[in-house]
This record gives sequence, structure tokens and C-alpha cells, in this order.
Amino acid sequence: METTLVLIKPGGVSRNLIGEITRRIEARSLRVAGMKLIRAERATVEEHYSEHRERPFFGSVCDYLTSGPVIAMAVEGENAVKAIRAMMGATNPLEATPGTVRGDFALTIDDNLTHSSSDPEAAARELKLWFPEGLPH
Ligand code: CMP
Repeated sequence: METTLVLIKPGGVSRNLIGEITRRIEARSLRVAGMKLIRAERATVEEHYSEHRERPFFGSVCDYLTSGPVIAMAVEGENAVKAIRAMMGATNPLEATPGTVRGDFALTIDDNLTHSSSDPEAAARELKLWFPEGLPH
């Protein structure tokens, strides 16, 4: 059993895609183990994307993630990390297969609708950052 982090970015929230994305996750028999709508602190987002600190898009992705409310979701299930990454599709929506969230609803890398943890170690780190209070039992 694994737990992974999914963020629905401000574009996904403002386009009313919370339900559609959550529906797909639940339809896959993955369990929503935590979920909240928040306006993220800049410090949280900078910590979240710390591995990208030197990349040219670091500032703009942090601006974007703090530009409006986001959904932070903890998703649990067998091989949840890999299953969720596959469901979201390639980071660049132009390369995302139809049938994936990005392949169906996104067009640009700057607004690729969701973030999901890349591996179990990243998931543990990101879940602690976005759910410092822990998950409800
Ligand atoms: P995400 O999975 O949240 O991880 C980093 C984010 O930075 C990525 O999705 C994109 O939304 C954004 N980004 C913008 N430009 C790039 C790029 N050239 N390569 C990777 N990510 C990028």
C-alpha cells in the first residue's frame, strides 16, 4: 500500500475540474485519504519545488501555484504513486496520451493542471509538507 500526493493546481480549480479529477482517481479504486482546498503559502510551494530551484521556470511555477486556491489530496492504494502518475499523463500536456488527465484537459506545460509525487520517497516528503497535521483516520 502506498500514499501519494496530488495537487490540483489553480487552473484545475478555476476550471471546475476538482470533481472530474477526483472522480477518475476514485473510479480507479484508489482512496482519497486526505483532501483540502487551500491558498498555499509561498514558502510551502518553494519547499515543494526545491529540487527545481535552479531551473528557469522555478519563479513562474511558484507564482502560479500561489495565484489561487489549490487542492491538496492524499491518495492511497496499491502502487498509488505509479498509478497516479500514469493517470495524470506526461508533464508536458502536448506529449500526454488522450485518456490521461493532461491529455484530455491540458495544453501547456505551465498549466498542466496537476502535480503528483514522482516516487515513494518524494511522496513521503511532500505529504509531510502539505499535511503537517497528518491524515484523518
Ligand atoms: P510539476 O509536475 O508540478 O513539476 C514542476 C512543474 O513546473 C511542472 O509540473 C510544470 O507545471 C512546471 N514547468 C514549467 N516549465 C517546465 C519545464 N520546462 N520542465 C518541467 N516542468 C516545467
